[in-house]
Amino acid sequence: MKLDGSARFATRCIHAGQEPDPSTGAIITPIFQTSTYVQDALGEHKGYEYARTQNPTRAALEANLAALESGRAGFAFASGMAAIGAVTSMLKAGDHVVVTDNTYGGTFRLFERVLTRYDLTFSYVDTGRLDLVEAAFTDRTRMLFLETPTNPVLGLTDLAEASALAHRRGATVVVDNTFASPALQRPLELGADLVLHSTTKYLNGHSDSVGGAVIATRETDIEWLTFYQNAAGAILSPFDSWLVLRGTKTLALRMAQHNINGLAIAEYLAGHPKVKKVFYPGLPDHPQHELARRQMQGFGGMLSIELGSLEHARRFLNRVRLAALAESLGGVESLISHPATMTHASVPPERRAAIGVTDGLVRLSVGIEDIDDLKADLAQALDAV
Ligand SMILES: Cc1ncc(COP(=O)(O)O)c(C=O)c1O
Repeated sequence: MKLDGSARFATRCIHAGQEPDPSTGAIITPIFQTSTYVQDALGEHKGYEYARTQNPTRAALEANLAALESGRAGFAFASGMAAIGAVTSMLKAGDHVVVTDNTYGGTFRLFERVLTRYDLTFSYVDTGRLDLVEAAFTDRTRMLFLETPTNPVLGLTDLAEASALAHRRGATVVVDNTFASPALQRPLELGADLVLHSTTKYLNGHSDSVGGAVIATRETDIEWLTFYQNAAGAILSPFDSWLVLRGTKTLALRMAQHNINGLAIAEYLAGHPKVKKVFYPGLPDHPQHELARRQMQGFGGMLSIELGSLEHARRFLNRVRLAALAESLGGVESLISHPATMTHASVPPERRAAIGVTDGLVRLSVGIEDIDDLKADLAQALDAV
């Protein structure tokens, strides 16, 4: 089915990049599990030469993701971290990057433990405060790397304002849109230059694939990423590409239910006497609730709660039954985790404290189970606190 430009988001999820297979009419893009392609004659081929460079299953996913993020081209990588590596390959020695301070721990680790070896420098600031972003810029700043909402304390950055600021200073704006997904927020429409994802999370949505993606709009970025993806080679496999494509078909539907369940659980926990604080942009007492209403189409399924101490967090985490104690997020099943010892273990304790990742903080990725079952599970686990 050919989509015209007027197709709305849920339609794009299902149809963008999806053509019936020309050889059989199969409605679902096949898994092209091949390493190479036979050429008709010397120099004559069908656009496919070698599978690191081009694969039809991956190409279908990339077209789909580009359409979902309102970009011009997508690039699928072997993991979210490989996608972040691809974006930072645009930098040169001596460049400086301004980064959201409570960015994902693995991003911090890549920047600080790997990329600083190549003479790149990074400043971490609360990008929710534009005055701090402005103050962090230097003559060498080439990139503003944003994550909104942040992991795990759900801080927001005004994407339109931050993009305008960075562009006045000649910097490229990159947004890690993993937490929101394009169903809730489309940074390219707000002025960002590049969007990236851990497709492992909401885009795939079923906790059965690890992958990443970058979506670009500018011709120079598209040229570089096309070259880099093949040159560095950290591509997404055909099977994983197929899984993520299968996932994005239901993205609009899943995110609508994540929004409903996320808000219901946030409201329930906010009224619970054992919970000291709930971090969720959909609650009116979230300091950036108004920005969330403006910038996002729904508040998603991610929230964190403060239980006061490591011991309280431990008792709660050891008692949940339905919500599984596991890293990761964005699947149909609810997951629960302890950022200080799990996702943010690679962040030094003093930095963890500065960004609000306390020992009593617990993160929930609220799934799409029946809401009453979820509430009952959390209630019985909180009894143990
Ligand atoms: C916001 C965010 N960005 C990037 C990543 C890295 O993605 P991956 O685990 O697919 O490499 C994660 C992983 O948890 C994440 O939460």
